[in-house]
Amino acid sequence: MSSPFRVVVLISGTGTNLQRLIDTVHVGGEPIEIVRVVSSREDAAGLQRAEDAGIPTAVVLQSDHPDRAARDAALADMVEEERPDLVVLAGWMSILTGTFLDRFPDRVINLHPSMLPAFPGMHAIEEALAWGVRWTGVTVHFVEEQVDGGPPILQEPVEVLYGDSAESLTARIREVEHRLVPRVVRLMAEGRVQRDPVHRRRVSISEGTSQ
Ligand code: GAR
Repeated sequence: MSSPFRVVVLISGTGTNLQRLIDTVHVGGEPIEIVRVVSSREDAAGLQRAEDAGIPTAVVLQSDHPDRAARDAALADMVEEERPDLVVLAGWMSILTGTFLDRFPDRVINLHPSMLPAFPGMHAIEEALAWGVRWTGVTVHFVEEQVDGGPPILQEPVEVLYGDSAESLTARIREVEHRLVPRVVRLMAEGRVQRDPVHRRRVSISEGTSQ
């Protein structure tokens, strides 16, 4: 049997996307295993979801380190111990510097609740509503040092309906996220996502069965 594709998931909160990954790729009889979940907060509900699934957890607090570079070095050491093929930021609400990212080139992906480059940052859904856009969406992208600035792997639009509240729009965005994130993890596990070695913002996805 071939060895599983090893995934580390970083979270900060509720962890519904983590749950979706647990319920699909992790237990789905696929050669994909979530080998550790790391949270930036002790009270993240997602930690319990991981524990319930028997996945090892850890908490890495910024307050335990003198600065972000020191936090990122400690985080990278912990993640590297797991020999990850992929690191998924699923609601990880803390900026990662090159100290972390340079250790896992092209192996860190993030989920964001907008059609980037629109509405980067922490309040994408509220800002889309305030702006009055008719469409927003979901982006799964490679992570680079510029926040929410790495090239997209998959994007899917979500219509903003008249009268939407942050809650109603969030619910529809989550549905899309819960489909897109496992799909990207499968594509990555199958080696079907390639970044152009020269034009680094170009990402190609090769043909296969699990699109
Ligand atoms: C998701 O909606 C994700 O797109 C967002 O946090 C939420 C986490 O939900 N991430 C960002 O805004 C990153 N800038 P979850 O904890 O239930 O998976």
